[in-house]
Amino acid sequence: MQNRTIEIKYKEYPSVAELPCDERQLLEKAIEATSTAYSPYSHFCVGAAVLLDNGEIVTGSNQENAAYPSGLCAERTAMFAASAQYPNVPMRKIAIVGKNQQGELCAATPCGACRQVVSEYQDVAGQNLQIILYAEGGAVLVFDGIDSLLPLRFSF
Ligand code: THU
Repeated sequence: MQNRTIEIKYKEYPSVAELPCDERQLLEKAIEATSTAYSPYSHFCVGAAVLLDNGEIVTGSNQENAAYPSGLCAERTAMFAASAQYPNVPMRKIAIVGKNQQGELCAATPCGACRQVVSEYQDVAGQNLQIILYAEGGAVLVFDGIDSLLPLRFSF
C-alpha cells in the first residue's frame, strides 16, 4: 500500500481588475448574466460565461423550477447553450460568479454535475478548459483545466 497525494494548482488574483484582459472580460459577462437568473426559490443568482475558440462568448444563468430537480445551474445552461449554438467549436474558458439576496457578488463553485459536464467539453475540445471562479472577498481563482476541480474524473 502507498499513501498518495493529489495536488491542486491554481492562480489567485486579488481582484477582478488584476485579471488578464480575456479573463476579466469573461468574468464581467458572467457578472452581467447574474441579472438573468430565474431563482424564485433559492433567491441566489449565478452567472456563467463561456469563451469559445472562435472568440464568441455564450452566457447562462441558473434557471429554477417548482419541480426542483428540473432546474439547471448557470454553468450547464451556458455550456449547453454554447454547444447547441456552436456545435463544433471548442470551449476555451468558463467564468462563474454568484450574487446573493443582498445583491453582493459571491463565490459559486461549480457542483459535481457541472464539473462532469466541463470535463466532457474539455475532452471534446482536446485542450484544457480554464475555469475562472469569483471567490470570497473579491479575489478570483483560475484553474487551468478540470483535473484541478475534478481529480480522477470519469471519461471514456
Ligand atoms: N447554482 C448554480 O447555478 N451554480 C453553482 O455553481 C452552484 C449553484 C444554482 C442552483 C440553484 O438555482 C441555486 O444556485 C442555489 O443552489
